[in-house]
Amino acid sequence: MDTPRHVAIIMDGNGRWAQMRNRPRTYGHLAGARAAKKIITSAATAGLKNLTLFAFSTENWSRPETEVRFLMRLLAHQILREQKNLMKNNIRFRTIGELSRMPAPVRDIVEQTVAMTAGNNGLNLVFALSYGGRQEIIRAARELAEKVSAGELKVENIDESLFANQLESSFLPDPDLIIRTSGEERLSNFFLWQAAYSEILVFNKFWPEFTSDDFKYAMNIFSQRERRFGRVSVAAPLTPAHTVATL
Ligand code: IPE
Ligand code: IPE
Ligand code: MG
Repeated sequence: MDTPRHVAIIMDGNGRWAQMRNRPRTYGHLAGARAAKKIITSAATAGLKNLTLFAFSTENWSRPETEVRFLMRLLAHQILREQKNLMKNNIRFRTIGELSRMPAPVRDIVEQTVAMTAGNNGLNLVFALSYGGRQEIIRAARELAEKVSAGELKVENIDESLFANQLESSFLPDPDLIIRTSGEERLSNFFLWQAAYSEILVFNKFWPEFTSDDFKYAMNIFSQRERRFGRVSVAAPLTPAHTVATL
């Protein structure tokens, strides 16, 4: 089976899941945290190498202050509570995004967990926190511009691989598969550069409803996709009737 090297998940629909049950959005976030825990375990058990979870976007700062505060507390609480399990399951925890924008208590717990798990070599678990694809690209562009103006880099040496190496996510391969829940068919500023050739799979269920079986199903669907990367299919060659000679 063709297994992805990197799966990224846009965990969407917590609020609507809760609202459908006449509960506050925060209730949905709690249920979402439980779903994330299950999927992390499934990914580690399945032997996946890289899993990125989009937990909070740059644009999510524009939500009501009470919701943002709740999400920050929940993140800190969840990461702290999972430290033991991360160590037990040999999971290396990392983040991408503007960590400096996160409240100090969250930042401290994140940094402590990153340091604690730095020697683990099982699943790389990446939380995208205060992450935005455009912001990541702009930061990389600025850093490259600075190198050029300092005379450390020649403009003509800027190519895809140099640019990708300047991105904060450069330690990750591009996501082979991006999963989004809640039926929304958009990237919402996630992995804009990296998603160039990602397979995308949208589930018509809210994130709190996403199960380990759904994750397995996604892996299975991925293995059946034919990725062409702009080339022609090897599986279905052109028949003579379709060659240029008959045009
Ligand atoms: C995903 O669920 C969690 C975050 C974006 C932090 P939402 O909070 O976006 O829930 P919906 O999409 O409004 O239902
Ligand atoms: C994307 O979900 C961000 C995360 C899942 C963290 P949003 O709920 O913020 O996306 P939009 O607003 O529906 O595009
Ligand atoms: Mg949403």
